[in-house]
Amino acid sequence: MNRTPVVSALRLYESIEALGRIGRYLDEASGLYGVNRLALTAQDGEGRRHVVAKMKSLGLAVTVDRIGNVYARRKGREDTLAPVMMGSHIDSVPTAGKFDGCLGVLGALEVMQALDDAQHVTRRPLVAAFFTDEEGSRFGSDMLGSSVATARIPLQTAYALRDRAGLSVQAELEAIGFLGETAEQLAPPFAYLECHIEQGPMLRREHIDIGVVTGVQSISWHEVTILGRSAHAGTTPMELRADASVAASRINLRLRQMALSGHYGEQLRATMGAMVPVPGLVNIVPGQMTVTVDLRNPSDVQMRRAEADIIAFYETVAAEEGVQIRWRQTARTSCVPFDAAFQDQIEAAAQRRGLSTRRIVSGAGHDAQELAHLTRAAMIFVPGEYDGISHNPRELSTPEQCANGVQVLLDVLLEIADAE
Ligand code: GLV
Ligand code: MN
Ligand code: MN
Repeated sequence: MNRTPVVSALRLYESIEALGRIGRYLDEASGLYGVNRLALTAQDGEGRRHVVAKMKSLGLAVTVDRIGNVYARRKGREDTLAPVMMGSHIDSVPTAGKFDGCLGVLGALEVMQALDDAQHVTRRPLVAAFFTDEEGSRFGSDMLGSSVATARIPLQTAYALRDRAGLSVQAELEAIGFLGETAEQLAPPFAYLECHIEQGPMLRREHIDIGVVTGVQSISWHEVTILGRSAHAGTTPMELRADASVAASRINLRLRQMALSGHYGEQLRATMGAMVPVPGLVNIVPGQMTVTVDLRNPSDVQMRRAEADIIAFYETVAAEEGVQIRWRQTARTSCVPFDAAFQDQIEAAAQRRGLSTRRIVSGAGHDAQELAHLTRAAMIFVPGEYDGISHNPRELSTPEQCANGVQVLLDVLLEIADAE
């Protein structure tokens, strides 16, 4: 007899724990275990094989495309209809927790399992996906696999990206055995749903169970190379220096000043996340610095103003510090709104389960923003402990928080996939 499909919090959490043991490392500073499954490393490969095995054990038909995105399909009653897709990513930043991305992928598989338990075959076929290199921390371009699948970035451009060691995306896909054969451009699914941790403090502070995501803010990444003159730290008078690290520091302070000024809306966020000096030694004025700039803004107009101003400031600093500054855009996405009707459905589904909700703009980038260019897309956020800390081994959502998000995912999925 058919039953209402229900998510198992225990099974879901055990599956998050199991994937979290792949690429695990001991973070000496905190004494906690973290996760390092940087895209297309051996650890990512092991994580991928683990998830693919799980997909196959659920009887799903698994395909790997030419950028290494993995799709697992479950038949529908009317199997020629466009599928409803759920997904996220399993690659991580090098200092991650267990939840970022993995909740969405393992949650999608938990949904499939709950449907199997209830012997429920949806009208439309379903697909659970994980996309290559969502994080962008190795090859410099975030949401890489999903942006190739949705044709924002050409396959060859993605293949040619290189990490700091000079290894290319194409070679590394091949090395881990995930250079697949199916066409990378995705036929539009009927809908796309993604459950993810919030990665910020809002939901937890307000004791909200479910974030109904209204959209994702714009993201702009620069890699900035500053060329000064290397010199002896003890003998070179200050006025004779062209110090690349001073130039980098000035840009970093300017970023904070811009973000705090309120001149770019209330919500400009600006970060210099990497600062790499050459040669990087105590007694040498650095002749070169490579730094990164990450700007986020929920307004496209304000983002464009912030970008123009920081680029002009690079020139000012170059002139004043006697250095050369070259920069290149490594990633750029505009604000993406999610489907309004799906937002209402998520809110209603959560409320039917007695869960509190609020609307929230995503501060982080997600694969759903790429899929939103192809189909109607939506995201469900769950809260995280410790102010939602993420990209950090302390990242933690409880079994209940995770299961709430995935149950809402399942409820909304059923409405969409079973509708006539
Ligand atoms: C992806 O995690 C991002 O940088 O927003
Ligand atoms: Mn993520
Ligand atoms: Mn992330």
